[in-house]
Amino acid sequence: MIALEFTTFIGRFHPLFVHLPIGFIILAILLEGWESFKKKGNPSRLIPIAWFIGGLASFVAALCGWFLGETGLYIEEQLFLHRWLGIALVPIAFIGWWIKRAPEQYPKQLQHGFNILLIVLLSVEGHKGGNLTHGETYLTEFAPEPIRNLFTSQKDSVFNLRSNNPDSVIVYTELIQPIFQAKCVSCHGNEVKRGALNMSHPDSLSLGGDGGDVIVPGNLEDSELFRRITLPQKNVKFMPPTSNVLTYDEIKTIAWWIEQGALFESRVSELEVDKNLKPVLLRRYGLNTTPRPWYEKVQVAPLDSTQIALLMQQGFSVKTLGANNPLLDVGYKGTDLSPEKLVALEPAKEHITWFSLTGTNIKDEWLSGLSGFVNLTRLELDKTSISDLGIAHLNDLSHLEVLNLYASQVSDACLPILQELPALKRAYLSRTKVTFDKAKAIEDEDGLTIIIAENVKN
Ligand code: HEC
Repeated sequence: MIALEFTTFIGRFHPLFVHLPIGFIILAILLEGWESFKKKGNPSRLIPIAWFIGGLASFVAALCGWFLGETGLYIEEQLFLHRWLGIALVPIAFIGWWIKRAPEQYPKQLQHGFNILLIVLLSVEGHKGGNLTHGETYLTEFAPEPIRNLFTSQKDSVFNLRSNNPDSVIVYTELIQPIFQAKCVSCHGNEVKRGALNMSHPDSLSLGGDGGDVIVPGNLEDSELFRRITLPQKNVKFMPPTSNVLTYDEIKTIAWWIEQGALFESRVSELEVDKNLKPVLLRRYGLNTTPRPWYEKVQVAPLDSTQIALLMQQGFSVKTLGANNPLLDVGYKGTDLSPEKLVALEPAKEHITWFSLTGTNIKDEWLSGLSGFVNLTRLELDKTSISDLGIAHLNDLSHLEVLNLYASQVSDACLPILQELPALKRAYLSRTKVTFDKAKAIEDEDGLTIIIAENVKN
């Protein structure tokens, strides 16, 4: 650790020293140009001296640079060219000094060629070094757009999932691993394992690094990996140490995965998605984790068309929910409803998912027939004389999500029944005998919402 700190200490001088060889060598080249412009006889003694100091300075810069590279804070592939060009510059600068010491012995073309070579080398080297510290796009970030497009191959960070069905997307493989792959594995992979940490597959990730486990399932605070990505960016321990930092959405996704147990096999729908993560999953991955209504999930064979015709003969309006959904939206209008007509719905009882009896003469006891409507998700009993007695017949409707009782005869006594309906999300209770405060009291966080006007008197 002491050794590492010392090399880091030396390494930090690299950004300071790199300017010296650039300065001295450019100075030497400028001096030479100035003199040939003035056509003076004897070349200045200053030129070889500047080359010599340039050579020494590039040695020191390369040495510090070597130590800086060894800290492991840079991506190996990006470092490679910069490191070896920098080292090559040392002998090349000394060759320059050798040539310029006795310029009359070497042809003019060689002298000029050498100057041009050095300028090119220094520019490429400086640019590569700049990219390492500031990121690949530093130079062109604020360039006019056409220039920027020329230099940057914008990496598409939008993930293309194989499916956007939360039931089939595996959290680790499709959401977490691609982030690690893009931003961590270049330093924490099979070949390069900084901090002895290999994040390229689940087994190696579970082994942790020099400091032991980096992930503690279900515990964000004790997870070194999470701590590292959420430190202040200036902290030496911040990960990644490159400019390729994690986005807010990426950090949120990783945090969620760790909190939910850092499992490698689970699918999105198997984990609990809190309301902060919902929008992240939606905008980043196109994953809609709001549960789908029952009528989109249920599978039934389409109802026979003669059966549908019979229903229509009884005066019911009948529509299917869509070309691919054989469930039915059935309604009745008028005040001539009778138990006989309702019996005609029997063959369709598994198909009816929306049922509207708005404004009809439906009676409490007739509702007992609805208990067989296993896929009923929306029931409209508004503007009818239905009372609490009728509501009691609904307690078998385990998929009922919406119940409209606007302007019916129900009272506070129906509230416990509504509360017991397992799928109920929304109940309309304005213009009933239900009291506002009692109705609001049965609402819950992400389940039931009661729509009731506060000051409406019957
Ligand atoms: C440019 C190289 C580089 C990249 C990219 C990088 N790291 Fe690191 N990482 C290191 C180095 C070097 C160490 C060892 C020194 C230290 O502990 O700070 C390290 C150490 C760690 C450790 C501590 C391991 C231990 O047990 O001591 C964790 C955790 C970590 N990195 C997580 C990450 C994560 C997560 C990412 C991606 C978001 C990432 N790193 C990207 C270079 C990198």
